[in-house]
Amino acid sequence: MKPFVPEKLPLENIAWEPLIPVIASANRSLAFFDGVLQGISNPALLLSPLTTQEAVLSSRIEGTEASLGDVLRFEAGEQPPEMKRQEDIREIINYRRALKQAEQALKHKPFNLNLLKELHATLLDSVQGRNMGRGKFRTEQNWIGQPGTPIEQAYFVPPEPGRVMEYLDNWEKYYHMQQSDALIQLAITHAQFEIIHPFLDGNGRIGRIIIPIFLYEKRLLSRPMFYLSAYLEMHRDTYVDRLRALGRENDAWNSWIQFFLTAVEHQARANAEKARSIINLYGRLKEQVIALTHSQFAVPLLDKMFARPVFQISQLEGKNMPTRPMIHGLVSTLKDAGILKVLRKGSGRRGQVLVLAELINTTEGKQVV
Ligand SMILES: Nc1ncnc2c1ncn2[C@@H]1O[C@H](COP(=O)(O)OP(=O)(O)O)[C@@H](O)[C@H]1O
Ligand SMILES: [Mg+2]
Repeated sequence: MKPFVPEKLPLENIAWEPLIPVIASANRSLAFFDGVLQGISNPALLLSPLTTQEAVLSSRIEGTEASLGDVLRFEAGEQPPEMKRQEDIREIINYRRALKQAEQALKHKPFNLNLLKELHATLLDSVQGRNMGRGKFRTEQNWIGQPGTPIEQAYFVPPEPGRVMEYLDNWEKYYHMQQSDALIQLAITHAQFEIIHPFLDGNGRIGRIIIPIFLYEKRLLSRPMFYLSAYLEMHRDTYVDRLRALGRENDAWNSWIQFFLTAVEHQARANAEKARSIINLYGRLKEQVIALTHSQFAVPLLDKMFARPVFQISQLEGKNMPTRPMIHGLVSTLKDAGILKVLRKGSGRRGQVLVLAELINTTEGKQVV
């Protein structure tokens, strides 16, 4: 199998006609989602569980097994017994850091290849044995196939290393071009990135981190917060098949674009609904917590719990927070009201682990605690 030679961007012959309906509905759904996003006063805080969920699902596409619950419990000080699970969790937390890092970086300058390398360095930060070529574009030939199989049996052999920079330059220029439909441009940008496969590992995840960044820079979103991985994970086989077809068939671009736009349409609607449920939950809990505690700290406390829905009481302490005994009193009121549940009983020096149950269930879209 020879290294693949990617097409130069922009692509010349896309058949637009069959795409028109899905272009329209994907753009409509995304605009609706952005409307919801714009109505949220503090989306970074309120949608923080969705950000963590994206990190979990995007990493799961690549084979990590840790769940949202695993990550949140880890952050509340609970170590999972297996080493593999701990490494998964670390990668997921890195992923979330990279998402936030991208959001910060865009405040200062437009997206560029350096940022891409910085995000990669964060993603593979101190992930033992999984951090090959961290923060660097590859200088070796790589291939995609069954784990452990030689290049002869690869499904796909990305471009030769000596030409990676040339392809990336073309890709970066294309990213910044003004095209008639930004969503199609994004579909092509994501796929071409996967085809170039510029890193030794982490290409799938970096390619998905680019999605919200791109939408924000093209002004389809008011903030770089849009998460596609739930759909891609649920349709993983189709996702990979359609990418794989791009290396084989000439007319595969249309079915890839069709798939990608359908993903955006579905996921924008799902995200909008989920964001609204979380906002409603926040409003409802705010009233409840104020009514139950009559405390001036009701809202700061609730905010802390939204930022970290699984926690130990000591993690609620901090600036502008009440004294430790007061926190204990407030927490026990919320436990009695059923708002907080005990995930792990305290014993000896191990503190108890509490969970803001409804927030987790709303984020997961099902009863998990
Ligand atoms: N045949 C293929 N052609 C192009 N891209 C592919 C193909 N198969 C898989 N991919 C992409 O490659 C990603 C996996 O690459 P990898 O570098 O291991 O990323 P990560 O470490 O994030 O798993 C998949 O998520 C998918 O986006
Ligand atoms: Mg990988």
